[in-house]
Amino acid sequence: MLALGQTKNSSRLEMTTKESRSLKTLHYMNMIIFFLPRNAIIPLHDHPGMTVFSKLLIGSLHIRSYDWVDPEPALSCSSSSVRLAKRVVNGVFTAPCDTSVLYPTTGGNMHRFRAIAPCAILDILGPPYSTEDGRDCTYYRAIPYSRHPVKNGAADQLTGVDEEGHRLSWLTETIPRMLRMRQIRYGGPPISDDE
Ligand SMILES: [Fe+2]
Repeated sequence: MLALGQTKNSSRLEMTTKESRSLKTLHYMNMIIFFLPRNAIIPLHDHPGMTVFSKLLIGSLHIRSYDWVDPEPALSCSSSSVRLAKRVVNGVFTAPCDTSVLYPTTGGNMHRFRAIAPCAILDILGPPYSTEDGRDCTYYRAIPYSRHPVKNGAADQLTGVDEEGHRLSWLTETIPRMLRMRQIRYGGPPISDDE
């Protein structure tokens, strides 16, 4: 039913080859299917101001997602290039499973996918990414909390786990050099937003 992409170099986990098929882009939403071969990774990225429905259609997928710690504790760390985030999802999902929903500030707005088995994921994003409207996609790298300790301030109380049991990490912006994505044309039936 679905054509899956091929990994060009499966020996490097960060060499990600994925295919995406954009079904529909409207001013208020975008529908995409991602096809991931085994071990392909969609690096940690955000969805600023967006709500995202992700439905795993086939396959098995490890999802790790984060939300920002808000309000951010008063920090006295050596670098302002990192921001504190809490991990809200860290697990393997196998189809059929529930649809995951991300909200602008909750539910794991920043997430990373790794295909345990070949996957197809239907993503519905609302509103879509838009550089002009300040909704560009930013990629992040997670740094363990213990690798970037704070010296003093309110965050002295933090031990790497928040009061709700979420593990804390520092996120820093990055550019995923090994990311490969190929778009393929949607060949299914027409999709219309007409009533
Ligand atoms: Fe995403």
